Amino acid sequence: MQKWVFGALSAVLIAAVAPATAQTPIVIKFSHVTTPDTPKGVAAEKFAELAEKYTDGRVKVEIYPNSQLYKDKEELEALQLGAVQMLAPSNAKFGPIGIKEFEVFDLPYILPDLATLRRVTDGPLGARLLKLLEPKGMIGLAYWDNGFKVMSANKKLIAPSDYRGLKFRIQSSKVLEAQFRTLGAVPQVMAFSDVYQALQTGVVDGQENTPSNMYTQKMHEVQKYTTLTNHGYIGYVVIVNKKFWEGLPAEIREQLSRAMKEATAFGNARSAQENQQALDAMVKSGKTELIKLTPEQDAAMRKAMEPVYDEVSSRVSKALIDEFRKESAGTQ
Ligand code: LMR
Repeated sequence: MQKWVFGALSAVLIAAVAPATAQTPIVIKFSHVTTPDTPKGVAAEKFAELAEKYTDGRVKVEIYPNSQLYKDKEELEALQLGAVQMLAPSNAKFGPIGIKEFEVFDLPYILPDLATLRRVTDGPLGARLLKLLEPKGMIGLAYWDNGFKVMSANKKLIAPSDYRGLKFRIQSSKVLEAQFRTLGAVPQVMAFSDVYQALQTGVVDGQENTPSNMYTQKMHEVQKYTTLTNHGYIGYVVIVNKKFWEGLPAEIREQLSRAMKEATAFGNARSAQENQQALDAMVKSGKTELIKLTPEQDAAMRKAMEPVYDEVSSRVSKALIDEFRKESAGTQ
């Protein structure tokens, strides 16, 4: 009896004290379209872990991967409406909400390697591009890498003429549209989550993506040939709903910024390796044949895609393209 009374009393005491110590956590819903075992998935999980750690559990990050909550276009609308707080869409996906400048990252062969990319994203241009998000109700927190793209189809893609007449799935970027049109192919914008089925059923003939995205969506199982073109880059802008972010206590914002900085470094240090592992796994599966281009074949692809720059110069802005090239060359 005495024990029971003591137990009941301590329960009451705990309940009375609890609200002062254990507050309801602030929830950040982070939606994205790739699987957890991708460069984006890994960085998002790292951010969630560090955010909870640095805020002492005052913030909880709920990750919804693999388009389970929203597809590409819907997720940007959901963020603007505040249904989710954080996303990491690829650079290619901001056009439909009226920010076309990030499409500069989609230009074929504009980035020779990730170190060059880092110079741009960490420099003044990278910072200025992030500012473009604010009038749209979002804040850009970081740039996350995926990596360089390969091309795939059920036909060997070696010369530029091999692309002629084939239908290719693209992300919603006018630069990518121009790229495939320049090759004489037919680009079709499609949500990432629909690509596997579209390839399987022949709605489209081919696609371009990073090895990690191809492998984790099983696209390699329905594409006989994968060509190691490395012709373009996929990376992400981590964005947060502006109202939500600005409404956070300053101290929490600082802790989250620290978590983001560290998660970014963590993810970006691993992305190349993850893509290499995915490429190796694709080859090992025996389901797709990997085609490597000779220097002459590579040069022919580069030459064939040159007209893309002129074609999109009015959309993306010639001045922006020139600045991007200057910064990436380290001559600014
Ligand atoms: C795609 O749509 O192909 C990619 O942007 C998906 C992603 O988020 O990596």
